[in-house]
Amino acid sequence: MPKEKVLVVDDEAAIRYTLAEAMRGWGFDPVEAGTIAEALELFDIEQPLVVLQDVNLPDGSGLDALREYKSRQPQCVVIMITGNVMLDDTLSAMRGGAYDFIAKPINLRELQVTIRNGIETGQLRREVKAIRSEQARQFSFEQIIGHSPAMKDMIALARKVAASEASSVLLQGESGTGKDLVAKAIHYSSGRVDQHFVAINLAAIPGTLIESELFGHEKGSFTDAKSRKEGLFEQAQGGTIFLDEIGELELNLQAKLLRVLEEGSFRRVGGLKDLPLDIRIIASSNRDLRSESEAGHFRLDLYYRLSVIQIDLPPLRKRGDDVLMLANYYITYFNRTLRKRIRGLSPEVEEVFLNYQWPGNVRELRNVIERVLILEDTDQISTTWLPRDLLRGIKADFHEDTFHASARAGGSGESIAGRYILPENGVNLEEFELSLVQQAMHRSGGNQTRAAELLGISRDQLRYRLKKLDESGAELGF
Ligand SMILES: Nc1ncnc2c1ncn2[C@@H]1O[C@H](COP(=O)(O)OP(=O)(O)O)[C@@H](O)[C@H]1O
Ligand SMILES: [Mg+2]
Repeated sequence: MPKEKVLVVDDEAAIRYTLAEAMRGWGFDPVEAGTIAEALELFDIEQPLVVLQDVNLPDGSGLDALREYKSRQPQCVVIMITGNVMLDDTLSAMRGGAYDFIAKPINLRELQVTIRNGIETGQLRREVKAIRSEQARQFSFEQIIGHSPAMKDMIALARKVAASEASSVLLQGESGTGKDLVAKAIHYSSGRVDQHFVAINLAAIPGTLIESELFGHEKGSFTDAKSRKEGLFEQAQGGTIFLDEIGELELNLQAKLLRVLEEGSFRRVGGLKDLPLDIRIIASSNRDLRSESEAGHFRLDLYYRLSVIQIDLPPLRKRGDDVLMLANYYITYFNRTLRKRIRGLSPEVEEVFLNYQWPGNVRELRNVIERVLILEDTDQISTTWLPRDLLRGIKADFHEDTFHASARAGGSGESIAGRYILPENGVNLEEFELSLVQQAMHRSGGNQTRAAELLGISRDQLRYRLKKLDESGAELGF
């Protein structure tokens, strides 16, 4: 491992020399500067882990240099050398973010301990920073797969919210649509990225424990409270708390949460002190909270408070071709983890995937791909190993019809007209056409090429119909 760099800043050459020699002796790599200007230049070039900074320099105050280091590298460790014990300087140094200080005349033993601790702290800070930026990358919006208009709109909104000051956000979407993913992306793209992201699944914790879990408790506040406990709200202070499945929260706790949101402060259970709330709350629900409220299962006032910013995650069946993109992503992923070499989906499977309803959304798709990759021995995914649900889907939806029709059409030259039965009272052909075009556009997530395929017409023909429908003033609804 390379030696850690320590920037030694002092205008007295003799002291600087002694300090640098000591650093070398302790296994560090010293870089020396005699002025602040020189120090700031070296700071950028050498990126030292620790700075040992004298307070008085010919070209300015070491305290200003400290502020400058901290603004360039908030995680850097700066140890101040004070001329003699000057309380004012020491105080402003600590306030300015100095890690520690040491008084002249310097006692080398003492310095050694201080430097060692400083190096250790610097190494930890560097590690935390690396982990954070790895997380920020891993949980960024770029990792969310989907090009359908429905997804693009959703992500654009979520990005906007991330960059904003919005204190609460409601994510709504069926199970498996990516609510966890979006909640993390919002946190890791926000100004709160250096603070904690804390998640709690409210459906998974007994109602009786939730309050102390969220807000913490004081010792002895109830029978099992043997010691003081910090709640998740305290842990998330400055960052984000993700209240997953908020629809499961009991009504009395909903009232408490509402109070916390409105007052901007909270209290530990059994506590007397109000703690200020500086947290972004992201709540999620896989049920429609408005109808839950109307049915009396959820407090309407809490719903209104949470839904100031509401992001709806589209179900997978409304994302058109995204399903194929996601399938390919998971094929690549599971090829790696399961050591397989599957190239892709057969055209028939693509068709099944595009027409299936995916009640479990992306999570279900991921599980299907994993299963099939385990079972498939050819290099392409065929219908052989698809779960029954998916195949039942094609039978009911279109496959049986199409198969029979083409068999009839091809086999005996029979007309396929009999596939659609004209109701006794007739139909409104224009409405029927509008409805089919709408459904195709919907299912394709607005992709005209795909919608045209679904309707068995060319893209130009589809465009022509869309235009005609639009001119007729029909409500297209997508
Ligand atoms: N658009 C997407 N791109 C990539 N992976 C996704 C996407 N949406 C969901 N996933 C994955 O699907 C699974 C379920 O997502 P999750 O966020 O847990 O859904 P929810 O919280 O809505 O039930 C996770 O493994 C997640 O990484
Ligand atoms: Mg979830």
